[in-house]
Amino acid sequence: MRHDLELAYLGIQVPDPHSLTPFFGDVIGLAPGEPADDETVTWRNDDAAHRIIVERGPLTDAAFVGLQAADATAFDEVVARLESHGADVAEGSDEERKVRRVQRLARTSSPWGVPIEVVVGLEPAATPFASKLVPGGFLTEGVGFGHVVFATTAFEEAHTFLVESLGVGQTDWLETELAPGLELEVRFYHCNPRHHTIAVARAPFDLPQRLHHVMFETNDRDDVGAALDRAWASDLPIPNGLGRHDNDAMFSFYVASPAGFQVEVGHGARVVTEDWDDNRRYDRISAWGHQPLRNG
Ligand SMILES: [Fe+2]
Repeated sequence: MRHDLELAYLGIQVPDPHSLTPFFGDVIGLAPGEPADDETVTWRNDDAAHRIIVERGPLTDAAFVGLQAADATAFDEVVARLESHGADVAEGSDEERKVRRVQRLARTSSPWGVPIEVVVGLEPAATPFASKLVPGGFLTEGVGFGHVVFATTAFEEAHTFLVESLGVGQTDWLETELAPGLELEVRFYHCNPRHHTIAVARAPFDLPQRLHHVMFETNDRDDVGAALDRAWASDLPIPNGLGRHDNDAMFSFYVASPAGFQVEVGHGARVVTEDWDDNRRYDRISAWGHQPLRNG
């Protein structure tokens, strides 16, 4: 499988970064990332310095997405490809590289409005990852820390940007009618063996949040169940109980964060292979399950 990019980190902006600490720490079971400034709280699900960067700000949404290139050559190729397709690419300053804990950083905008940071050399954390709540740990080796899904009215522009400018591959897509007259269309994109690193949903109008969810994949199936127990005990909304997606075959559930965006905790997704020839339409989100369990 071609492996150019993987999800390095997700930046989230909320008015109070500490407000998400019980959620990421006690419900999802992430470990604290390397310390940042007073305005920022970081989290990780593996040995990297940080995977979720929660900064203070007015957005209450994703603020940036970091994509790590496999090496310096891949970094140069991704940047050159973006520039050749007319993207404005700004090189990160020394300060920005220090804050993101990377060796190189190039920033560009995306049609869905969340800046993309192409990076290389994300620092490891000072200590190995360990979570008492997720004893089996998370699946990140060679596939990035998870996946992110955005909703946008700029659906076609997003597709062109991802496939042509960023150079990721479409894995498959979903087109289904949720209710009479209510269509759902989602396209899924890969850049390493993970079934999708980014997916984009067509929004009928501008939604309050661009980030629909971020997914963490556990190594052990039981760690998904234990996370559901913690989510249930938390009183947070659970928009989707346990289920299995039809396309990526992920066994998962979704819990809404106190900031509104959702987190999917899953296990056992299928992977994209070198000779992937299953780029096809799916007409249902889930093979089974994923019913709404508790509304906010
Ligand atoms: Fe997902």
